[in-house]
Amino acid sequence: MSGLDIQAIRKDFPILEQEIYGFPLAYLDNAASSQKPVQVIDAVANYYRKDNANVHRGVHRLSQRATDAYEGARSKVRGFLNAQSDKEIVFVRGATEAINLVAHSFVRPMLNSGDEILISHMEHHANIVPWQMLCDDVGAKLVVIPMTQRGELDLSTFDDLLTAKTKIMAVGQVSNALGTINPVKMMTEKAHAKGIPVLIDGAQAVPHMPADVQDLDCDFYVFSGHKMFAPTGIGALYGKQALLEEMVPWQGGGDMILSVSFEKTQYNELPYKFEAGTPNISGAIGLGAAIDYMQSIGIPELAAYEHSLLDYATQKVGELEGIQIIGTAEKKASVLSFMIDGVHPHDVGTIFDQQGVAIRTGHHCAQPVMQFFGIPATARASFAFYNTMDEVDALVDAIQKVQELFA
Ligand code: ALA
Repeated sequence: MSGLDIQAIRKDFPILEQEIYGFPLAYLDNAASSQKPVQVIDAVANYYRKDNANVHRGVHRLSQRATDAYEGARSKVRGFLNAQSDKEIVFVRGATEAINLVAHSFVRPMLNSGDEILISHMEHHANIVPWQMLCDDVGAKLVVIPMTQRGELDLSTFDDLLTAKTKIMAVGQVSNALGTINPVKMMTEKAHAKGIPVLIDGAQAVPHMPADVQDLDCDFYVFSGHKMFAPTGIGALYGKQALLEEMVPWQGGGDMILSVSFEKTQYNELPYKFEAGTPNISGAIGLGAAIDYMQSIGIPELAAYEHSLLDYATQKVGELEGIQIIGTAEKKASVLSFMIDGVHPHDVGTIFDQQGVAIRTGHHCAQPVMQFFGIPATARASFAFYNTMDEVDALVDAIQKVQELFA
């Protein structure tokens, strides 16, 4: 089924070797945040032990080593996304900050009253609210691609939603609440045919499948490190160089300038123009280590293994009575959202926890998805390559325990 040695991989994640209430921890909340391998933890610790200093500023050895490690991490992100140049990779706090940056620096200067921003019904709040705020500011309109009962995008009217007024299309590659893999390459082609730039939110995609911004031909691609085995507080914005060159900085401060006087400031070159202030150096180094780690396993290999986990979980949970799976798209990654008849998802999560099974319950920062299905919340199991079939069985046992308790 898989050439991966999952038990060997699990040894790289010390946090997984613990019991919760006497049960082995089954960590199935990876869409919220993933665990970190020792390779990432050590990269961050070694940076603080040996190389810690500010970047781009010092002639001394530590600053040079910190700069090399930070810029080395940028090159790793470029390779990971298959971008053309390191200049196209901006370090940010995460996908949320990247989307806000594009909203303010790229879209805002050209957005007028009556213009439109196109998103989809299954976006995370991070890919809704920044656009809504812009629309409210200038009197523009947020237009939403609808979805179907299976949790797939309903593209029957898509061509009509791409209009002369659309200033950007911003869509998620994988839905965090449903697991749906959206056809973003085809959607990008269609948007581009009408001259509309495209941002892809890859936060839930990069931990689970290869990313290739040149193949997608998107104008912007954003992701967070913490969902892909890197530290929190670091992520990246990819932008096509020609667009980033034209964009105004979002935040001002140190490092994003070439010269400053009270009369005039000259901005730094890419990508530093968008990295005001001391960056998250250790986070970037940890992100680089996470990329090395994923690539050492093989991203297509981990994707294939996760797919088998999801298939097994979908089959096992689907066989149970009294369960409704929310999100049954043909193409899915990592996520199994469900409801247990007669039980609120928050109770489900609490009872699961007592059996060592960690899942997320709630609206998953995607309230419009919940509104669509007419539910307040779901229970969501989300997988990573270090999860096992035994953990899927623990999930099934936990569901049966809930059903016994509420019978
Ligand atoms: N966006 C994260 C999730 O899906 C927090 O849980």
